[in-house]
Amino acid sequence: MSPTPVPPVDATTTDAWDRLRTIADSFAPDLRGWFAADPDRVGALTFTAADLHVDLSKALIEGDVLPALLALADEVGLAERRDAMLRGDHVNATEDRAVLHTALRLPSDAHLEVDGQDVVTDVHEVLQRVYAFADDVRSGRWTGVTGERIRTVVNIGIGGSDLGPVMAYEALAPYRQPGLECRFISNIDPTDAATTLADLDPATTLFVVSSKTFGTLETLTNARLCKAWLLDGLAGTDGFDAETAVAKHFVAVSTALDKVADFGIDPANAFGFWDWVGGRYSLDSAIGTSLVVAIGPERFTELLAGMHAVDEHFRTTPLADNVPVLMGLLNVWYADFLGSQTHAVLPYSQLLHRFPAYLQQLTMESNGKGVRWDGTPVTAGTGEIFWGEPGTNGQHAFYQLIHQGTRLVPADFIAFASPAYPLSDGDQDVHELFLANFLAQTRALAFGKTADEVRAEGTDEAVVPARVFTGNRPTASIMAPALTPSVLGQLVALYEHVTFTQGVVWGIDSFDQWGVELGKKLAQEVGPAIAGDTAAIAAQDASTRALIGYYQEHRA
Ligand code: F6P
Repeated sequence: MSPTPVPPVDATTTDAWDRLRTIADSFAPDLRGWFAADPDRVGALTFTAADLHVDLSKALIEGDVLPALLALADEVGLAERRDAMLRGDHVNATEDRAVLHTALRLPSDAHLEVDGQDVVTDVHEVLQRVYAFADDVRSGRWTGVTGERIRTVVNIGIGGSDLGPVMAYEALAPYRQPGLECRFISNIDPTDAATTLADLDPATTLFVVSSKTFGTLETLTNARLCKAWLLDGLAGTDGFDAETAVAKHFVAVSTALDKVADFGIDPANAFGFWDWVGGRYSLDSAIGTSLVVAIGPERFTELLAGMHAVDEHFRTTPLADNVPVLMGLLNVWYADFLGSQTHAVLPYSQLLHRFPAYLQQLTMESNGKGVRWDGTPVTAGTGEIFWGEPGTNGQHAFYQLIHQGTRLVPADFIAFASPAYPLSDGDQDVHELFLANFLAQTRALAFGKTADEVRAEGTDEAVVPARVFTGNRPTASIMAPALTPSVLGQLVALYEHVTFTQGVVWGIDSFDQWGVELGKKLAQEVGPAIAGDTAAIAAQDASTRALIGYYQEHRA
């Protein structure tokens, strides 16, 4: 039996919080001055985690800020809580569960026993089954019911059973096997399934139904819809038999293998995982099956190794040099002391175009909470809004607000030294042009442009104010040699641990998500009303009744 988790410390009652409040009261950010006064600032504030090079010199920290943030980490018991999570204590208090996504990437010779179970053996046993399945599909050994090889794998899942696999499939496009495509259906809007399936041949399509609970309305509805599409499409083929067709064209990933069997999928074609893996932390479990098919077991193993390298950094590096800890503490500083409400994540890599969406679930479903893990209300702001788009597209859309707006928007800039596709326009290495933008933006945000500098360009005095950039807009610059599977794994693990760090400071359970339950339940209640059941309509509030009325009048 794991020891009962310790109650959370109220961060706002700590000495460090008081110190940070005092510092914040008279805080006057001056990145120009700080850089001028300290030639070693960049060296002192640049850190390494595995292959990640993280420059925090353009963060709004000076003097006592970092020591006070580190003291806060000590006072809330961050290191103890990290160790409790890593050894399998039930740190997911509201669900009384261990939180062990880090065990999914432990090497096979590691040992971790949790609640009497050797989890490393379990993890590697499933991993080997997923790898064997992926090899079969990739080699053409696994065929559809007509004997043709599989050309398209469609992952059906939502939330953590979709966002991670999609993000990684996009990010690792250069590593995909040619001729084998993955597609993803998540939304219960039937348009999603209709458009995804439109040009597919059922004979060469394989579905992976991915659902931790195997009870999610969207996923089960889409799975039924896809099953009907498949059986319809194959019905005329020689010796057609529905059961064989489903066995050859459907596999499942879930913690609820009994429900998989009820759905009609052969348990031999199902890959399990465990309740100690949260949905948004499950990319590296069997939920990554579609990704393994796309990039192959070897590359997936590299992704896991990258995650493990950052886990080790998080576990062993003193807090003062611990990148996820520092980034998490900085986020607390910005959100709770400098008033930021949102946090931008801006990858200078088109391949990471789904990374901000993936991070939104990781960070906001984890830390968007109003009570601590013991049920007491929080006394500080929690859970910033994470958002972003790849550079340079964002530059021509919303950067204006980050540069000159009235709100503080801390931003993480991510870039890679080597491009995935080295191309030249004839004159110039386009990747260098791209990187020049990455560097220019963080520089402009940090150092701005004074009125005198604007005037020196001969600007008409009337428009000088509009052309001034205040600077002191904080950024973190994260660079790596290239976007390899390992580096992607490192980025994912980095943000998982940033999220954890913030959750511990706020004393919240970053691993439950009760906030999505009410809407799910109400959707079930509204269902009969929208179908016209008069008693169900009468049970709705006035606004919902009126909207149902609008729907009934206007539907085609
Ligand atoms: O939206 C809530 C949620 O429970 C997420 O946490 C989860 O990733 C998603 O639904 C999908 O759940 P499941 O994998 O059980 O279908």
